[in-house]
Amino acid sequence: MQSTRVLTGITTSGTPHLGNYVGAIRPAVAASRQPGVESFYFLADYHALIKVQDPARVQRSTLEIAATWLACGLDPDRVRFYRQSDIPETTELMWLLTCVAGKGILNRAHAYKAAVDRNREAGEDDDAAVTAGLFMYPVLMAADILLFNAHKVPVGRDQIQHIEMARDFAQRFNHLYGEHFVLPEVVIEEQVATLPGLDGRKMSKSYDNTIPLFAPREELKKLVYSIVTDSRAPGEPKDAANSNVFQLYRAFASEPETEAMRQAFADGIAWGEAKAALFERIDTEVAPLREKYEALMAQPAGIEQVLRDGAARLREERAIPTLRVLREAVGLRDLSLAGRDAAAGSAGTKPALATFKQYRGDDGRFYFKLVDGDRVLLQSGAFESPRDAGGRLAALRRDGVDALGDGVVLGDGVDIDTVRAALAAIARDDAEKAARRNAGD
Ligand code: TRP
Repeated sequence: MQSTRVLTGITTSGTPHLGNYVGAIRPAVAASRQPGVESFYFLADYHALIKVQDPARVQRSTLEIAATWLACGLDPDRVRFYRQSDIPETTELMWLLTCVAGKGILNRAHAYKAAVDRNREAGEDDDAAVTAGLFMYPVLMAADILLFNAHKVPVGRDQIQHIEMARDFAQRFNHLYGEHFVLPEVVIEEQVATLPGLDGRKMSKSYDNTIPLFAPREELKKLVYSIVTDSRAPGEPKDAANSNVFQLYRAFASEPETEAMRQAFADGIAWGEAKAALFERIDTEVAPLREKYEALMAQPAGIEQVLRDGAARLREERAIPTLRVLREAVGLRDLSLAGRDAAAGSAGTKPALATFKQYRGDDGRFYFKLVDGDRVLLQSGAFESPRDAGGRLAALRRDGVDALGDGVVLGDGVDIDTVRAALAAIARDDAEKAARRNAGD
C-alpha cells in the first residue's frame, strides 16, 4: 500500500524554545514513528532569508534547529530530514508555480496584507519595505509541498491559508499540464496546547517571553522562577485553570501528576514551591535531551553530513526525476525530439519508444540490442551471462550515451544523436512512471 506522505518545514530564524518543543517537535517526533507514514521534516532556510538578513544568525539557527530535532529523537534513517536549500529543485519548481500563481491571490496573503496595512497606517507607500520575497513566500512554500506530492501538512493555524494557496497553484498547474500534483491537506493539531510564556501571553519569540529549550540547568531555573504570577500568599487557594505555572506543568506532567498539582493549587501551594516542582518536572524531561544536544552541537560537521545525505537521497529518488517530468510537461524539452513530438502531437499519440531486446545468440551467449521499429540503434557484443548483459543494459538506461562503448556499438548508419534522443525518451518515460508511482495515484 502507498504510504501517506506527511511534510512540514521549520523556518530557521530562531532558537527553539519550550513552546516549539511542546507544540511541534515532541508531537512530530512521536508521529514520525508511526508505521505507514513517510515523514518529511526540513529546515526552511530559504524561507528564513525573508525575515533574517544576518548570515551568521541564519547559520546558527539552522545548526541549533537541526541539532534540536536530532536530540529530540528524530531518526534520519526513518524520516526524510533535510535542508531546503540543499534541494535546488525547490526553487526551480517555485518558478514553474510562479508562472501559474495568480498575483491577486498573493495580494490577499495575511502576512503581505498585514505589511500593507501597517504601511497605510503609517502613511507610507503600500509596499514600502516589502520585499518580493515576502510577497512570494506562499509560492516557495507550495514548491516545498508539491515537490514531494505531500498528502498532509501539519502546521499552525497561521499557515492554513498557505496550504490553501498551494492547493490552488497545484490545481491550476494540473489543469494546464495534466495531473502532476496531489492536492495537499492541512492538518491542525487541535489538542496541542499553546504554551504560555514568561509573561502569560503565548510563548513566542516575537513577545520575547520564551524559555529556550536547551538553556543550561541554572538558566532554566532562573527563567522558571521569573514566570509572572499573581500575588496570592502561601496557603491561599490558587486558580490552576488561569495559571501559566500550572499550564506549563501540565505540558510536561502525566495525568496523575497534573491532578495532584491541581489539588495542591486548591490547597494553597506557595508559588515558590509550585515553581520548584515545575522546574524539576521540565528538567527531568529535558536534561537527557540537552546532553545529546550539547554533544551534537560540539560536532557540527556530523550534522552537516546528516543533512547532506538526506538531501542527496531525496534529490536522486524524487526531486530530480520529478523536475525532469515537470520540465517536459511545460515544454522545457530536448530539442532533438522536436520532430517526433510534433508528429506525435498532430497524430494525438505518443511516439512509440525504442525498446531494448535481450536474446541468446547461436553461439549460446547473451546479447541485447536497442531497436526502433525494425531499425537497430544499438548492438551489444557477447556476454557470458544474462546478468552481465542486463547490467550493461541498465547502465545505458540510467546513464544514456555516457555508458556507450565497451562492446556496445551503434547500429549501421545510425548517428549518436538519434541514440541519445531515444535513450532520453526512455529515461523520461521511466521517470514519468516513477513519478506516477510516487504520487500514488
Ligand atoms: N511557513 C512555515 C512556518 O513558518 C514553514 C514552512 C516552510 C512550511 N515551508 C513549509 C511548513 C512547507 C509546512 C510546509 O511555520
